[in-house]
Amino acid sequence: MRQSPSTTEAAHDAGRSRQWLTGQAHGPGVDRDRLLEVGAAMAAVTAAAAEREPVAVSSAPVGVDPGTPIVKPLPPALLRPLDTNAEMHWSAMAGQGHVVPNDRFFVRNHTVTPHLDATTWRLRLFGDGLRGAPTRDNPVEFDLQELRRLPAEEHTALLECAGNGRRYFAEQQGEPTPGVDWGLGSVGVARWRGVPLGTVLRLAGLRDDAVDVMPEGLDPDYVTGGVNLGRVRRPLPVAKALDDVLLAYEMNGEPLPADHGFPVRVVVPGWVGISSIKWVGPIEVATTALFSPWNTRFYRMFGPGHPADGTVLTTQPVRSAFELAWDARVPAGAEVLLTGRSWSGNGPIERVEVDTGDGWRPADLVAEDRGGAWQRWTVRWRPPTTGRHTLRARATDRTGAGQPDRAAPNDLAYLFDAVVAHPVTAC
Ligand code: MTE
Repeated sequence: MRQSPSTTEAAHDAGRSRQWLTGQAHGPGVDRDRLLEVGAAMAAVTAAAAEREPVAVSSAPVGVDPGTPIVKPLPPALLRPLDTNAEMHWSAMAGQGHVVPNDRFFVRNHTVTPHLDATTWRLRLFGDGLRGAPTRDNPVEFDLQELRRLPAEEHTALLECAGNGRRYFAEQQGEPTPGVDWGLGSVGVARWRGVPLGTVLRLAGLRDDAVDVMPEGLDPDYVTGGVNLGRVRRPLPVAKALDDVLLAYEMNGEPLPADHGFPVRVVVPGWVGISSIKWVGPIEVATTALFSPWNTRFYRMFGPGHPADGTVLTTQPVRSAFELAWDARVPAGAEVLLTGRSWSGNGPIERVEVDTGDGWRPADLVAEDRGGAWQRWTVRWRPPTTGRHTLRARATDRTGAGQPDRAAPNDLAYLFDAVVAHPVTAC
């Protein structure tokens, strides 16, 4: 997937942070003063260590049972429920192809999966970045059939939560962190089909001086620390929106499942998962920078080594996982084929090494994945003795970025990129 330097999240945020700090920004309900208010309220909560990455406390919408925030079945062999979310078990990927089947794709819900009616659903574009400056109440609308009639594109792209691997800050580094307790399973690759966001923006009358686009989800408002932060939303620069962003209505050849954004979601390749807004409804297009709590308060790095207003999450780091259950049983003395996958927000993986207890050695890369959204690999291993063993895998991407032994701590526990020590028992 293309990603020119001007469309990286880091480049975007560097400029936007300056604008925000100098008051040259707005957003519905989140102008700078409002954000500072929210920030102050939340800082107090954060200080009490009661709030980290968003955990849902919202009320459910009419017709949704608040006890079942996820619609699809969560078979224990495939998914692990985590509050309003579900993590994929890596053992469920053994023997699978390049993409993650929809039945085991992880779910990250700030609140609940809404039940939306595709026949009444509308994409609603508004803002002064469109000719005629349509308003939120009188927007430019597209229904699903209209979107489906536009020329479609299909991209195989990786989606990953910035908090993936968070639990290893505690388990491996002794740095306990409240928040969604992800192992390595909040990541997936799918074939997304839909209409380029750029096509729709142009049809809606995109102006040359538009700078930001903010898709907004139709799931319930997100309430945390006693503050209603409104709908989940996060801005993108127009350059990225016109580059490779999709309004996806199919996932792996099926209509988008309810939990993954039915009827339409945004897919923003290369950017942290929160950018890929599910159940998209309104989209604001503005000639000034847009902000939301999801790029000023959350999904930023705070803590030692970061400025007071935080550092934006840039691309996702390099990570590797074995397609094995945690504490899996393996036969002692017999050769086993270990399989796994590695990936990086910087682009393709070049090299993977595995340590089964006697030093690092290269893994074999699956040829058909070369240059793809992630890289499958294999390595043979004969457990020498019965009892506990520790498996480790580390990868290097095409930029030379690798995986350290220790991840840099940060308050919201994002971007855990260290080598994960995976226990197995030979018997
Ligand atoms: N969009 C809406 N409207 N509401 C959400 O809670 N979660 C975001 C993003 N889009 C979210 C959303 C986050 S944090 C991630 S990682 C991805 O969706 C997860 O997508 P998935 O649930 O399809 O795996």
